[in-house]
Formats: sequence, structure tokens, C-alpha cells
Amino acid sequence: MTEDLQFDKDGRLHHFLSIEGLKRETIVEILDTAESFISVGEREIKKVPLLRGKTVVNLFFESSTRTRTTFEIAAKRLSADVINLNPSVSSTKKGETVLDTIDNLEAMHTDLFVVRHINSGAAHLIANHLPRHVRLINAGDGRHSHPTQAMLDAFTIRRYKKDFAGLKVAIVGDILHSRVARSLIHALNILGVPEVRVVAPKTLLPTAVEQLGVHPFHNMYEGLEDVDVVVMLRLQRERMEGALIPSEQEYFRVYGLTEEKLSVAKDDAIVMHPGPMNRGLEIDSAVADGPRAVILPQVTNGIAVRMAIMALIMGGNVQRERKGKE
Ligand code: NCD
Repeated sequence: MTEDLQFDKDGRLHHFLSIEGLKRETIVEILDTAESFISVGEREIKKVPLLRGKTVVNLFFESSTRTRTTFEIAAKRLSADVINLNPSVSSTKKGETVLDTIDNLEAMHTDLFVVRHINSGAAHLIANHLPRHVRLINAGDGRHSHPTQAMLDAFTIRRYKKDFAGLKVAIVGDILHSRVARSLIHALNILGVPEVRVVAPKTLLPTAVEQLGVHPFHNMYEGLEDVDVVVMLRLQRERMEGALIPSEQEYFRVYGLTEEKLSVAKDDAIVMHPGPMNRGLEIDSAVADGPRAVILPQVTNGIAVRMAIMALIMGGNVQRERKGKE
């Protein structure tokens, strides 16, 4: 279903719903396009006209700071008209269904929806409902998928490590509840990263996690040994039913990223976190603010990556624009 929905008949990206099913070339095209948008954010006038006259609706049924804001900035830098809605405090609260909200916004001639929802599968459901000329980007659905985060993570890794071949990447923490981990694992596998590890207590790993193409570890010193990239995840306490960790202090003692634990990684290892991070729970401040952290560059990169995805699925002449600038 994903593949049919996600692509046009000629194989071009139509919606951006999940990393699964994407070809390596598509992912690389997004990364290369994002690279060309980095300079836009560094200019005096941070705008290109690719989405001029288009209406983008940011529809966040679940709260967000970084993702919502960077999508808004990305759309504005592409010259689109952007509307931000938080339906959980308006229409949904009054009893309107998600699809009725979508129909109303579609009646206003929205060209592109950026949707975040607490339910896994919501983005697919909405994409399936939309008339085919309206596009959708999944900004995170439940525990399922967060494909633009995976793209900005891959982009950040490529910027610091140049190449995916030969890399060892460790994803640490609450893998069980993490759409970020799921999408990133798919992206790294498609991009050919030879070793993707997940490091977590058994209670925070999905069953049969190896089937996702990762090596599980339960010990930080073993899991981080010799890695090039460490991706820390937030403990998603809002998604936990029952006690999955003994206590926060104990979790930090065993799985919290400290300088000491990081010392077993490669000397030039980078530390990433999608945010929001909990200092003193999954990551020590000395690491979060230290020289190997690239957590804020991830945020900056997120704008260029989201510009690239929007421009590509809206069929803008990105290639022509890029060529013209070269
Ligand atoms: C993540 C999310 O919302 O899925 N954050 C983000 O998008 N930057 C991760 C999280 O909430 O922990």
C-alpha cells in the first residue's frame, strides 16, 4: 500500500509517508537536494521561489516544537503560504473527525499537508483519503514512522562522516516506542551502513528486533565500542504502560550517555539526539554540550532536508534551479 501511495505511476515521489519502500537513489536525491538548500539558510535573504503560490498546512494533532517550527521555516524559505493548526485544541476537541478536518482544509485548496498524529498509520489513512493532486508529508505517526527525522539524521551523518560505507552506528535508549529509531534503522540499511546497533534494556527493545537489520546490545560499553555515531533517544514515558525501567537514577547509571561511556567509541564519534532531550536521564550535560555533540546542527539541517522533501514532492524544478545556480 505504501508504495502505491508514495509514488506516482512514473516512480516519482508523490507523498512522503515512510522510509520503507524508498530506493537508495531517492534517499540520495533528497540528501543531495538538501545540501543545495543549506546555503539558502545562510544568506541575507533566506528565500527561493520554488513553492510560490502554494498553500501548505501544518496539521499537528500531537505537540511538537522542532519538527513543526522547522517545517514552517522550510515552507517559508520556499516562498509557500503556510498555515499552522493544532486541531487537538480546536476542531478535534469539538468532535470533528480527522478526515472531516482534512476535507475542510482541502476545500480551502491546500496543496500540501504536513501531518503529525498520535496514531500509527494516520498519515497513510489521510494520504489514501486525499484527492491525488494534494500531497502529504508524514511528520510522525504514533510509534510507526518519522521519515523526515530519519532523513535529517542521515544527512547529518553524511555531513560529518562523508560516506555511509564502513560506518558503525549505535542507536541507544527507548527503541520500543521510537518512530525515530524505526525510520532511521530503515534509512541506514537502505544507505548501506554495514553495522547498525541498538543498545537498550530488554524491556525497551521490540521483540525480534534483529529482523529490522540491527545488532542488539544490553551493555553500553559493548554497544558503543568503536562506533562512529551515537544516536541517543528520549525515554518516551508518555507511551509507556507500566514500569519498563527500574528507576530514572538506575536508568541513567546504566544507559545514560556520559563522557566515560562515550570514551569507548571512536575518538571522532559524533553524538546525536532528535530532541527533546532529558539531561541527566538519557544524556549527561557534559556530553550534550560537549565537542562531539551535533544535536543543534541536526536542527539546522532539518530545515534544508524538509525544504528538499517539500520541493521534490511538489514537483518543483529543483534540478533546474540547482543547475542554474551552479
Ligand atoms: C521525536 C518525535 O517527536 O518523534 N522528536 C522530534 O521529532 N524531534 C522524538 C521524541 O519525541 O522523543
